[in-house]
Amino acid sequence: DPALFASGEKVFKKCKACHAVGEGAKNKSGPQLNGLFGRQMGSVEGFKYSKVFVAAHGEGRVWDEAALVEFLAKPRSYMKGTKMAFSGLKKEDDLAAITAYLKSFGE
Ligand code: HEM
Repeated sequence: DPALFASGEKVFKKCKACHAVGEGAKNKSGPQLNGLFGRQMGSVEGFKYSKVFVAAHGEGRVWDEAALVEFLAKPRSYMKGTKMAFSGLKKEDDLAAITAYLKSFGE
């Protein structure tokens, strides 16, 4: 859905200071977000995650749509101790749009 992609691109402006996605995306203060869906939590090479993400990785947890929506709605409740300093996305529309946008960079 091109309209959803376009609104997702706008929502991603809130993430861009810390995250890159797309061809050649590198880690910034947050990990690069290519191929996020189906990716193990805390698994980006060369990124230094907080303990809670290292633990999630150890438990074999994987990003899917439900997990991402819950995390982005309330990052610090979903991942207690995360160093992601982001208050969260309040609007359901924004959550749907960012999910569609990130999905377009691989599953
Ligand atoms: C982690 C998405 C905003 C900094 C993550 C992860 C995702 C994500 C999916 C986990 C990645 C993984 O397991 O490899 C997003 C999205 C954002 C956003 C979609 C916007 C809506 C931000 C902002 C910052 C930030 C604004 C910086 C102020 C980080 C950091 C981590 C992280 C430092 C690692 C967390 C840890 O190790 O505890 N983000 N993020 N993010 N993000 Fe974000």
